[in-house]
Amino acid sequence: MNVKFLPEGKHVSIVFESTILDAALRGNIDLASECGGEALCGRCQVIIVEGSENLSPISEEEKKHLTNEKLRMGFRLACRAKVTGDVVVKIPISSRTGIQKLVVMGIEPPLIIDAHIKKAYIELAKSTLDDPTADDIRLLKKIKQVGLELKIDYGVAKKLPDVLRDGGWKITATIIGEKIVDIEAGDSPALYGFAVDIGTTKVAGFLVDLSTGELLHASGMINPQISFGEDVISRISHAMEKDGIKELQEAIVEAINSLIEKACDITDIHREKIYEVSIVGNTAMHHLFLGVNPEYIPFSPYPPAIAHSLNVDAAEMGIKIHPKGNIHVLPNIAGFVGGDAIACILATRIYEKDDLHMLIDLGTNTEIAFGYRDNIFICSTASGPAFEGAHIKQGMRAATGAISSMKIDKDVSFETIDDAKPRGICGSGIVDAIAEMLRVGIIDTAGEMFHEHPRVTEQGFVVAWKHETANGKDDIVITQKDIREVQKAKAAIQTGWRIMMNKLGVVERDIKKIIIAGAFGSFINPASAETIGMLPEVALSAVTFVGNTAGSGARMALKSQEERLKADEIARKVHYVELAAEEDFQMEYINALSMPHANLDYYPQVANSIKARISKVLLRKNKNLAS
Ligand code: FES
Repeated sequence: MNVKFLPEGKHVSIVFESTILDAALRGNIDLASECGGEALCGRCQVIIVEGSENLSPISEEEKKHLTNEKLRMGFRLACRAKVTGDVVVKIPISSRTGIQKLVVMGIEPPLIIDAHIKKAYIELAKSTLDDPTADDIRLLKKIKQVGLELKIDYGVAKKLPDVLRDGGWKITATIIGEKIVDIEAGDSPALYGFAVDIGTTKVAGFLVDLSTGELLHASGMINPQISFGEDVISRISHAMEKDGIKELQEAIVEAINSLIEKACDITDIHREKIYEVSIVGNTAMHHLFLGVNPEYIPFSPYPPAIAHSLNVDAAEMGIKIHPKGNIHVLPNIAGFVGGDAIACILATRIYEKDDLHMLIDLGTNTEIAFGYRDNIFICSTASGPAFEGAHIKQGMRAATGAISSMKIDKDVSFETIDDAKPRGICGSGIVDAIAEMLRVGIIDTAGEMFHEHPRVTEQGFVVAWKHETANGKDDIVITQKDIREVQKAKAAIQTGWRIMMNKLGVVERDIKKIIIAGAFGSFINPASAETIGMLPEVALSAVTFVGNTAGSGARMALKSQEERLKADEIARKVHYVELAAEEDFQMEYINALSMPHANLDYYPQVANSIKARISKVLLRKNKNLAS
């Protein structure tokens, strides 16, 4: 199915009966969805320009949020309208978040705003001869009347007499925990926070209004630590060199400060009105941000140095917000499962589900959480950077000109990001290409490429001929080595979820939902991912995409103390699985190198569609060999 979004003019391919919101998330289209697709907020309103007959009937929930007039005009809720054919959809300005698309946004469930930092407006009685109480005692007594026992920070004590009198005995106090950390004359309700997701490759920052919960600005940048090494292990190696930790810490602190500065410039908010920063990241990124030695993480038994959540003074960390501001760092689970995984669990609420959910956060390291309620298992697999386009001959990140999807019918057809001439192929395109080659019998289940097809040259399978490409010089090909890289990456992921399925004693049909998180995950075609065995074979309608939920979880921990406690609880309760220590690890991995799997019974649908073609090709190949 194809959804075209206006005014962007962007086409997004989705599977039958996905929602328009699914399509928007996949296409990184700016569409508000504050309730996370639960039909509660009414923010995801879109106008159907063409193809209204290709949508599910108007639901009761839509009738609640949309007036008769709007329904007549073609409005629908994107989270409820399921697509059964091609549609053209317009997004009205009122349904935009206004957020820059540099960052892949993730869903965020509704929550009650109750930030760790508070502001209180206080009116005090003037000091008189009859009541010459000291200023600090006067202030604390007044606060005690509402049941709060607070202390005064030294900086507050210094400015208290002047601020009280300048404000005519009306002041605003900023409270962190049990301490008044700042006072301002008069009523000054502005209270902001900043959430940060430190990825190995990218850092994303979100400016949030802590009194309303509104997201004011989001932006991302490449993690500058990348100059010290592309992946976690090379960063840790650098950390072991003289001054290595210091260099890496300074680089990430500087990056966060520049994201804060940018957000403040654009929104015209003074950085000292930001009182708290919440941080999520994988365990190595977490340690390097804090300046903690990460050198023991890569060695068995892979222990993190710090697992608990932490509160640190912003000034001590060199983070440029209010000088008395707080940095809250979410907890870690294990050496290779950090606060970013906890944030994803928090945002997807899988710990509240009664049936089996599988959450896969795809990346260079893929975290897989599987289970329900208090029975959630989690593991991390080294899926490597193939899906980010690395180690692939003409691989590239998901940027302009990347082939992002591909199909083989009579000939090859493909789509590129921003409809530009192809410059290379990104992860979703690679998964599609290999799935299609397998489906039509250009490769076999062992990933071996047959040379009979007109698109198979000495170099490999040609996705785009040179005259079609941006440089006009080189064909864009998938080589035999590229296929091997993808086999290893998908085998790592498949081994992870299969071992956890074995642990829970469940089979594919027991899985209620597969939730794909992560920037790359937003673009993959689930049918292709199932064809190569990266995902279990489930109904495609059971696969949903939630975007970058690590950032969502960081924002949630910033806005709500309860969510922060839940994050700590998740860290304590999930069962970490160290895959390498599992008895069946080697065997599972070897079996998973086949596509979709050495045991085709696990993939009855896929097997049916490829068996006949592959046997024909094998027959032809054997005949050729014999002759
Ligand atoms: S109603 Fe909230 S996302 Fe649709």
